[in-house]
Amino acid sequence: MAREKARFVCAECGAVTAKWLGRCESCGAWNSLAEEAPASPASVPRGRAARVAFVGLAGEAEPPPRVPSAMAELDRVLGGGFVPGSAVLVSGDPGIGKSTLMLQAAAALARAGRRVLYISGEESVAQVRLRARRLGLESAPLGLAAATALADIAAALEAERDAALVVIDSIQTMWLETLDSAPGTVSQVRASAFELVRLAKSVGFALVLVGHVTKDGAIAGPRVLEHMVDAVLYFEGDRGHQFRILRGVKNRFGATDEIGVFAMTDRGLAEVANPSALFLAERRGNVAGSAVFAGLEGTRPVLLEVQALLGAEAAGPPRRAVLGWEGGRLAMLLAVLEARCGLRLAGRDVFLNIAGGLKVTEPAADLAVAAALISAAGGVPVDPGMVFFGEVGLSGEVRQVAQAEARLKEAAKLGFTAACLPRRLARAPRGFRPPEGLGLGEIGHLADLILRLGAPAS
Ligand code: TYD
Ligand code: MG
Repeated sequence: MAREKARFVCAECGAVTAKWLGRCESCGAWNSLAEEAPASPASVPRGRAARVAFVGLAGEAEPPPRVPSAMAELDRVLGGGFVPGSAVLVSGDPGIGKSTLMLQAAAALARAGRRVLYISGEESVAQVRLRARRLGLESAPLGLAAATALADIAAALEAERDAALVVIDSIQTMWLETLDSAPGTVSQVRASAFELVRLAKSVGFALVLVGHVTKDGAIAGPRVLEHMVDAVLYFEGDRGHQFRILRGVKNRFGATDEIGVFAMTDRGLAEVANPSALFLAERRGNVAGSAVFAGLEGTRPVLLEVQALLGAEAAGPPRRAVLGWEGGRLAMLLAVLEARCGLRLAGRDVFLNIAGGLKVTEPAADLAVAAALISAAGGVPVDPGMVFFGEVGLSGEVRQVAQAEARLKEAAKLGFTAACLPRRLARAPRGFRPPEGLGLGEIGHLADLILRLGAPAS
């Protein structure tokens, strides 16, 4: 038999090339291409095909039925619960807590009287039981199996007409014996997911696929699956910290800008209904270099502490270390503070940290970072009852940001008494009402901020 032409598939994005390359031309990942058996051309039998019918745009559009998971933070991200017949991909770094999250969700749903099946391809039944005992879930009536052969799993699931939720942990361990590539390769992961999604639709259960993100491309990343599922949730956080954020990045049945906040404890994941209070819990007043940012995660206001520390002026090139924020934006802010406000920082080491391990991507954090830097430079603590938000431009002007009202409300709720914010917002644009008990301070330019903080320019 003539050898069929080889093809190479990227484990990150699924792009196909005819020859091996060190770097995927499509997504830029290094060392992610692996040889795959060529796919047999799909034959479409036309004889029995029923013609599709076309309809107009107007018509019934009922909201999808939902199965609430009994975990409020998970439901928030899903958009109200699992949708029967749909597939959700839960992806994240190994060890971040995906299995813990899904075991807790599965157990909660089982306790609520629904039929729930948890199929582990990574851990043995004994290991999952051990984890369940640690989480205090061993009495939850869910069906547990340790299996990786998809044919066996499919045979079992086909008979499960009452199942509300099926969790596959993880999709990268599943394999179909009809394919001769190893588990975890793009073709295995894709074919297994395809079969499971098909089963979910035909049997009517909600399917959760757990997927590991890998940097080296040794196993196929969840990105090859993202277009096959109805919702994609990222579970992220810093392993050295307690906090975990569940972020919706795709959702055919709901909004994608929601987050769920959890804390990893020694008894599993605890839901955090009020993240701001938790993120600020360890804050100490009266320390120079600390300022509170009134931020937004999706649609959810979150208050975070920004910490800045300045080293003495040193001879060599200064060090810049940033945790939880962008290094480029810090460099920009330092340059603006120096050029527009005369704050001398260039020769000094600068360390910036968002307390709690959360990553901030909003430009609205500029003003809080500037406040932390100004406070650190002057050695004058910021009023602990004050929050900050606003974007800073290159001439030092402070620009407006979205959702000011939600940010202020959250600050008022947590007992803050003052807010520094961009100018025009404080002058009450249409429909804007500041919450009671919160004094608003307009900041038009960073120079105003320096005056307001009473920090002597160094
Ligand atoms: P796990 O859910 O196994 O991660 P993943 O499935 O994403 O690989 O979580 C593993 C980590 O969570 C592990 O480092 C231990 C920690 N953990 C706790 O801190 N408390 C707990 O109750 C449990 C079950 C795990
Ligand atoms: Mg796991």
